[in-house]
Amino acid sequence: MRCLTHTPLRRLSCLSPPCMPGRWNQILTPKWSFLRQSCSANHGVVTATDVVNYWQKVFETNGIPEARESSEYIVSFVLGAKTFQSLSSKILHTPLTAAQQEQIQQLSNKRLERMPVQYVLGEWDFQDLTLKMRPPVFIPRPETEDLVSLVVEEESLKYEKNSGLCFPVSAAHPVILEIGCGSGAIALSLLCKLPQSRVIAMDKEEAAVDLTRENAHRYKPTYYPYFVNCCLKKTKSSAKQLLLWGPVDFIVSNPPYVFHEDMASLDAEILRYEDLGALDGGDDGMRVIKTILALAPSLLKDSGSMFLEVDPRHPDMVKNWLQAHPNLLLVLRAIHKDFCGKPRFLHIQKQSR
Ligand SMILES: C[S@@+](CC[C@H](N)C(=O)[O-])C[C@H]1O[C@@H](n2cnc3c(N)ncnc32)[C@H](O)[C@@H]1O
Repeated sequence: MRCLTHTPLRRLSCLSPPCMPGRWNQILTPKWSFLRQSCSANHGVVTATDVVNYWQKVFETNGIPEARESSEYIVSFVLGAKTFQSLSSKILHTPLTAAQQEQIQQLSNKRLERMPVQYVLGEWDFQDLTLKMRPPVFIPRPETEDLVSLVVEEESLKYEKNSGLCFPVSAAHPVILEIGCGSGAIALSLLCKLPQSRVIAMDKEEAAVDLTRENAHRYKPTYYPYFVNCCLKKTKSSAKQLLLWGPVDFIVSNPPYVFHEDMASLDAEILRYEDLGALDGGDDGMRVIKTILALAPSLLKDSGSMFLEVDPRHPDMVKNWLQAHPNLLLVLRAIHKDFCGKPRFLHIQKQSR
């Protein structure tokens, strides 16, 4: 399983200072021949370990975050593995071909330009899936895996309650709407975990819907959602477009929620390569959250649930907003923490009339 802890994978939950701004154009790359010289002890043979050490040094010299991990992921990718640790000692000691060295150099040059490793490799793992990654579509963050688990748990609870009845209703086929699908990470993981469900993956960006479709093709026909390319707005027509499949059991979303004033402090990797519209939640980070909340009563079935990923400052703000809008009949059921212990996920339910 691939995993990075570097800030491009996080958002404001654990922000670190931006890394060496202004150095993007001053790349200090030791000559490739230096690597060959340094391998002279090995009679000029270049192994995977030599190359990992070499690029780690280059990345460190140039202030590239997570230098070792970046180098290991690139080398393992070229050798057909996901992690360096999974390479056998035979492969580690086999000399790299000129073509492999060339490919490693090309990918490493991209990392030197502060491209996130996920875009450099063109793929990344999310839960049990390996998904294509392509700029500027948002790279799924590891904390979002917990958002998927919350929906799955809620559905399992409903299922258990139902099967405990004297006359259980036949197995349910929950309809799930994901607002802002990006690469399709959430929508496809939900289909993988809840194969009986029907999932609608919508995003305002064509590039995101296209990437979700490509990722779905990898797992077709097992995990195949419906695709909608539209921008969610507080209008009746926006809701109507999403009601083609009828009211839904679940809404799930990891909307743009970064406070606008915090956008400038995001890392170079994010600012240069990711769609900032996927992150910028406006002055209070609530622009899209409020739109989702306003439309939810029209989209959800009675007692339907909504799971949202938000900034740790949002749970209180959402609670107050819901109290000020009692006509929406939405209740904040639970606030769940992420793996950093920050309040990150909201479970909101539509009350039955
Ligand atoms: C933070 S990204 C989440 C992507 C993906 N769900 C994930 O977790 O990796 C937010 C996504 O919402 C989309 N988005 C932003 N505003 C939207 C709107 N008003 N209607 C539909 N999609 C929107 C963006 O294009 C972006 O793909």
